Order: sequence, then C-alpha cells, then structure tokens
Amino acid sequence: MTDKISTPRAQWGSRIGFILAASGSAIGLGNIWRFPYTTGEHGGAAFVLMYIICVVLIGIPVMIAELSLGRHTQRNPVGAIKAITPKGGWKLLGYLGVLAGTVILSYYSVVAGWTIGYIVKTITHSTSDFNTFIADPKSEFGYFIIFLGLTMLVVLGGVKGGIERWSKILMPALFIILLGLIVFSLTLPGAEGGIAFYLNPDFSKITGSTILAALGQAFFSLSLGMGAMITYGSYIKKETNIISSGTIVAFTDTLIAVMAGLVIFPALFAFGMQPSQGPGLVFNVLPQIFSQMPGGMIVGLFFFILLAIAALTSSISLLEVGVAWAVDELKTSRTLATILITAVAFIFGIPSAMSQGYSEFFSTIHFIGKTGFLDIMDFVFGSFALTFGGLMLSLFIGWKWGAKNAVAEIQSSRIGNYSMLLKIWSFLIRFVCPVIIFLVLLNLFGIF
Ligand code: PHE
Repeated sequence: MTDKISTPRAQWGSRIGFILAASGSAIGLGNIWRFPYTTGEHGGAAFVLMYIICVVLIGIPVMIAELSLGRHTQRNPVGAIKAITPKGGWKLLGYLGVLAGTVILSYYSVVAGWTIGYIVKTITHSTSDFNTFIADPKSEFGYFIIFLGLTMLVVLGGVKGGIERWSKILMPALFIILLGLIVFSLTLPGAEGGIAFYLNPDFSKITGSTILAALGQAFFSLSLGMGAMITYGSYIKKETNIISSGTIVAFTDTLIAVMAGLVIFPALFAFGMQPSQGPGLVFNVLPQIFSQMPGGMIVGLFFFILLAIAALTSSISLLEVGVAWAVDELKTSRTLATILITAVAFIFGIPSAMSQGYSEFFSTIHFIGKTGFLDIMDFVFGSFALTFGGLMLSLFIGWKWGAKNAVAEIQSSRIGNYSMLLKIWSFLIRFVCPVIIFLVLLNLFGIF
C-alpha cells in the first residue's frame, strides 16, 4: 500500500490483489441475476453468442483502455479526463460516470437486498413466494438499507485491505458452489430443453435490441463505461501487466456468467417455468432448485451468502467512483464523501424499492418499452449510459489522449514483446469499438 514515487495514492498490494479486486467489481449480480434474465428475455443461445462477441471485440479493449488511463493519470474519471484535456466538454463524460455509478448503486442495492432477504427467509423457513416477499415494504426497505449500509461501511473503512483479503477466499468458494449446482441442474429430468435453449442458437432471434442488450450487458458485467475501471486502474502499480490482467478479469467474469446460465436454464425448463419472466427469474428458479436438492437448504444458504458478498464487492466499486471523485476534485474528506453519496443513492433507490408491487405508480410506470421504475433505471443507466459512456471513452482514449500514449503507458511496465497485441488493441479501440457501439446506439433510436 505504500507509494514511494510522487503521489500518496493508495495502491493494490500485489498484481493478484488487483486482479481479485477488479474481478470482485466485475463479478456480481450482473453475472448471476442480470445475465440469466436478459438471456431469457432475448431468446437464449443467440444472445449468449452475441454477448461473448461483445466481450471479446469491445469489452476487453475498453477494459484495457480504462485501466491504462487510470494508471497513467492516477485519478478518478473526472480528474483523469481533466488531466489529459483540462479544457472543453470531455469532463462531462467523467460526471456521467459518477452519476451512472450512483444511480446503478441505488437499484443494485435493492436487488442485493433481495439476496439478503433470501438468507433470512432460508434461516427462518419462511415459505412466502418471491413476489409477495418483494412487495412487502418492510422487508424490501429493510434489506435495501442493510445492503447499502454495508457498502458504505466497507468504503468508509479503507477499501483495499478489505476487498483484497475477502476476494481471495470468496471468489473461489462461489466458483465451487456454482460447479456443484451445474451438476445438479443438468441431471434434473427435462433439463435438455434448457440446454438447447441456452446453447443452441436460433439466429432468427437476433434483432437490433438483442445486440444492444448484449453490448449493454457486457459493459454492465465488466464494470465498464462509467469509470470504475479507471478508478481501480489508478491504484495499479507500474509493474502490473494491464493487458494480461485485464483479459484475465474479463475471462473470469464471462466464465461465471456462463456457468450461472448453466445452473438456471436446465432447471428452469425442468420445472416448466418461463425464461422471459424478467428480473425475478433467478429468485424464482433458485429456491426451487434448492428445495429439490438433498441438503438444499444449506447449499442455498451458502449460495445466497456468497451472492450477497459478490454483490458487495461490486457495489463497493460503484460507490468508490463517486467517492474518489469527491475526494480528488472537491477535496472533501473520504468520510463525508462516502456518507453523502450513499445518501443520494438511498434517495434514488426508494422508488426502485417501491416498484415491485408496493407502489402501483412505480410498479407500472412505462417508458421506452420497460415497465416499472427499477427496470427503467436498469435500462437507462445500466445499459444505455454505460454503452454511451463506452463509446465516448473509446473515442477519448483512442483519439483525444491517443492510442499511442495509452500504448506507452501499457508498455511502461516492460511487459515484454506485446507489440502485435498492442497493434490489434489500438485498431480495436480507435475503429472497431466506436463504430460498432455507434451503430448499435443509432439502431436503438430506430435509425435503420
Ligand atoms: N459488474 C457489476 C456486476 O456485474 C456491476 C457494476 C457495474 C459494477 C458497473 C461497477 C460498475 O454485478
């Protein structure tokens, strides 16, 4: 954690510490809650394929770009952009990241609250079903506040030691439980339907909205497009190899998402449930799995505890973006910044918490094809703002700062001969990423 060079900025303890912390940010509800339900809504295997293409062609290059900008400038997203171009409107992009992070944190904490609720439900043997459970304001708000409060406490008390230490044990544990669940799910009678849905693509299902959903999901799941990876990158040591570390993070994140689908879809078809039921999907399917499994109660308990913790290592990074901004740019204390931004996220989260049946208005409000306040926020900030942020960041890093300068930053760790890969990366970040993202967004506005 010491930094002998010029700034007193905190640093990750080791390369593996950084990889685990960044994977902790990436792996969360995005993999286990959002990926399966979005796959279910967009027709299954064809979506999964689009998703993987988006991760490789766009996600990994943007990840590397964000990390190198962060390490080079040693700043939060707003400060990083200002360090490269002090004048002009580019810094708005940094503010968009801070805003997106705070709004995502607000509804993310509501959903993460459901996982805590499930832990309590399991322990107390409560049998109420998911929809009744989340429409009940007492439990809904209680768990939302508990989760947001936990996020605040971790960020208040020096993140690095905490995240690094936790991630080392928790990520492998989550992986092992998922493996066990896959085996169980695949052996359920009727699982084949789910495997076909999940792995056998039907290309007629690919539309413009499928591609946007896949791209948005890639940004969300990899924590990109809002500066979380700029911020985490600002704590990386100069010796760390950004190319390999960034790729490992993206690979691990994708693996966990694909594994989550292998748990959910076979079971879903075995139980005769609907794949396109939206955000409630995994919360309806998983308890069914656990109730049929020998020792399922204990497994379910562990699973939801790990999921809550995986969500926590993600929500920390959502909050950390705004906190790093306030501390660097507004010179507030870390404590004040953390409390204020948590308070803002809490206020934004109230309508999301009420949107699951408790408030008629927030549950049925309709906008751009989404119903309910939480779904609307997830689309506008979790998909659209991140995708737009990714477009602007690739333009900023590829052209304004310049891919050459980014390459010099990446090579400053003397990583050996990566010149071919760096050429490919420069091409992807300057041409492929902006053009594809731009076309996908145009398509969203019905231009084609
Ligand atoms: N990647 C996190 C997840 O999958 C969510 C997240 C998005 C975190 C954006 C930080 C920034 O759960």
